[in-house]
Amino acid sequence: MPQESICIKVRKVYGEKTIILAKKLEMVNLQLKIGRNAAFIYIPLIRQPQDDELKALKKHVPDLEILMYLFPEKKKRIKTFVELLEDKISTHLLASLPRAIDFVGDIAIIEIPPELNAYKIVIGETILKAHKNVRTVLAKAGAVSGTYRTRNFDVIAGEPKTDTIHKEYSCQYYVDLAKAYFSPRLSYEHKRVASLIKEGEAIVDLFAGVGPFAVLIAKTHQNVKIYAVDVNPHALAFLKRNIILNRVEDKVHPILGDARNAVRDKLSRVADRVIMNLPENAIEFVDAACEVLKPKGGTVHYYSFVSTSDSLENVKFRFTETVENMGKKVEKILFSRLVRETAPYQWQVVLDAKIH
Ligand SMILES: C[S@@+](CC[C@H](N)C(=O)[O-])C[C@H]1O[C@@H](n2cnc3c(N)ncnc32)[C@H](O)[C@@H]1O
Repeated sequence: MPQESICIKVRKVYGEKTIILAKKLEMVNLQLKIGRNAAFIYIPLIRQPQDDELKALKKHVPDLEILMYLFPEKKKRIKTFVELLEDKISTHLLASLPRAIDFVGDIAIIEIPPELNAYKIVIGETILKAHKNVRTVLAKAGAVSGTYRTRNFDVIAGEPKTDTIHKEYSCQYYVDLAKAYFSPRLSYEHKRVASLIKEGEAIVDLFAGVGPFAVLIAKTHQNVKIYAVDVNPHALAFLKRNIILNRVEDKVHPILGDARNAVRDKLSRVADRVIMNLPENAIEFVDAACEVLKPKGGTVHYYSFVSTSDSLENVKFRFTETVENMGKKVEKILFSRLVRETAPYQWQVVLDAKIH
């Protein structure tokens, strides 16, 4: 409900200055939202300014007026899940709770430190309460591991499930976090690589997962051909569903199997570009990536991990050396960056390299 209140009316140019002065005098009504029109702003007050206060204000803002004004009701700020937990968990324990939540579709994922294990249900329920479109809260129960790069999760609140539909840019993806790798933290990388593709290119995604590079590239380009390989049958099943869901059947060709075998059997010398998002051991597949490129060469997007004691320069060096051992040449490192922190003292990095 709108509410009438005493206020300061001032021309917009003096707005900020007047708010600061009025706040210093502790007279601003923070429960109401500041009113605005084309020329003036209206600062709600909790009381009538005293004569000396008004004098002080007018010294800086000569043409201000004190009058009554009808203010719209201020929308209540929604509390974060950490604020909601403040009366349930002691401050020193709460300090160790990571503030970052990953959202994949209607699933929220959080990492709960061991000292907060006893509170995981209450943490999960609070996340459900704070995020109305979340149906399930998962707690990480181990590191990403194994060939399929998956991890275990505990359902700590909501529907007992690990599958959902996730939206990223213009695409939708069926994912099951327990069965196939997917990280919303790579969304910028998916978009960055997709934006580099030129019409007419052939691309091989050697470690495609559920398809976030392949599907986005296909969705945002008319004339491209993408071969998307993954060794995990679950990832490939989701990839196939995602190809249909996003209507890119004519551009993305899914291949189940080991990347090296797929290259040997089907993908020799076919591509202008290769994506190698298997940071754990992409170095072992540089030979396959070189084999995939057309004889005139092409671009490789190479992902790796680097520890704080190592450097991006060393990653470039190791990559270049491995390419040269294949009898090819790195013409240029076109781009490199730290993508994200993946563990304490460990970063995922990317190199875009022109290979001849
Ligand atoms: C880090 S995930 C990346 C998935 C996807 N590119 C993304 O951005 O979400 C690496 C993927 O490589 C697959 N993989 C691991 N070893 C492989 C191999 N030898 N050949 C093909 N795929 C492999 C895993 O199953 C996993 O889906």
